[in-house]
Amino acid sequence: MNDLTLQFKTAAEDDSFIQLFLRHSVRGVDAARKHDDSSRQDLIEKIVVRPVDLKSGRSFQFTYCEVRREKHRNFLLNEAVIEIERLISSQFRRGHLFTTEFDFTVKVKASGKVRTHQFPPSKQKPDSAEHNRQKHYLIADGTPCDFLEEIGVMAADGNVRKQKFDKFRQINRYVEFVEDVYESFPKTGPIRVVDFGCGKSYLTFALHHLLNRIHGRKVDIVGLDLKTEVVEHCNEIARKLNCNGLRFESGDMAGYSPLASVDLSVSLHACDTATDVALARGVEWDAKVIFAVPCCHHEVASKLKTDFLSPIMRRGILKERFAEMLTDSLRAELLEGCGYRTQVQEFISLEHTPKNILIRAIRDRASKSVVVPDSVKTVRESFGLEPCEFESLLTRQN
Ligand SMILES: C[S@@+](CC[C@H](N)C(=O)[O-])C[C@H]1O[C@@H](n2cnc3c(N)ncnc32)[C@H](O)[C@@H]1O
Repeated sequence: MNDLTLQFKTAAEDDSFIQLFLRHSVRGVDAARKHDDSSRQDLIEKIVVRPVDLKSGRSFQFTYCEVRREKHRNFLLNEAVIEIERLISSQFRRGHLFTTEFDFTVKVKASGKVRTHQFPPSKQKPDSAEHNRQKHYLIADGTPCDFLEEIGVMAADGNVRKQKFDKFRQINRYVEFVEDVYESFPKTGPIRVVDFGCGKSYLTFALHHLLNRIHGRKVDIVGLDLKTEVVEHCNEIARKLNCNGLRFESGDMAGYSPLASVDLSVSLHACDTATDVALARGVEWDAKVIFAVPCCHHEVASKLKTDFLSPIMRRGILKERFAEMLTDSLRAELLEGCGYRTQVQEFISLEHTPKNILIRAIRDRASKSVVVPDSVKTVRESFGLEPCEFESLLTRQN
């Protein structure tokens, strides 16, 4: 085992490992750049290794930075060691290891002579509390990520732009929520996703990045939106970034039919009852997981009839908030009645957007027909409500 691999292995085992850079022997990469040689665009310039905590446990994410894009692969420690050995014995002759104890560099000369140096540590461990900005994000700050660069969140060197840090955090929060339910997806074959009302789609691209680039899974992700121009723009970006298995279609979610089964049905910030349509479609297709971050709620607020809550009903903002809570709790209860284990969680903190409730439902048991839970009936009776849009759609589907 060469010195660098040995140092990496020791640091990974005692949890002092922070990051490793491996660089290609410069000449080949420079030539490809200079001549913009498309046949050499897949030449790997640099590889960045960092620890990543996946559901399956501690892994090491290798980001292979090509001239125009990057690819990701995750390895367990013993696999990572083999991969580093392989890379160093091929063209990746310059390595820089960062640990909490020291930095370590290695350079293998053309003659085969190896030069190593050890320096005092220059990087802090990302997880340390006082360095929250460098938190251990699934999509890391400091590692190039093509779609984040495309949407202006990251600079080309992989560093998150200061003024875009909130968006970076929101994107990571979203992929963490998906990562949490990763085990619910099929173990083989493509993971199929429909993202309703995808809009500019930065969260759809984030989903693709997690499933395809980080987990290395085949995907079939469709982003659906009413706006044709936005859809065309997203398709252009998907092509440019070689996002295999990601496409965008224009159309109304109410009339959309997927070509195959759906593993994940998503609707993020879809207006008013569009969320109900998306939820009902997810149930209809028996999606394994359903995500919804509702947007504005008007339906229930306009129908609420109750005297005993007049202190709330007389105050517009309180009535609105109360109706939102009621609507989302009815949605969650109805999903339970359809055989889904349902959680309602905070999506991102209130300082970024008031639309911060995530309804996450995981298929728990097969349910041939929709059972409207008694809790829903009781709430409706108490507040003088007719069945809400989601309930009506479900019972019509039944
Ligand atoms: C507020 S944007 C949210 C975009 C994205 N999901 C996000 O969270 O960043 C809502 C999007 O839903 C789309 N939309 C609304 N109703 C729709 C429907 N019935 N079918 C398809 N898309 C719809 C709108 O065109 C808009 O782009």
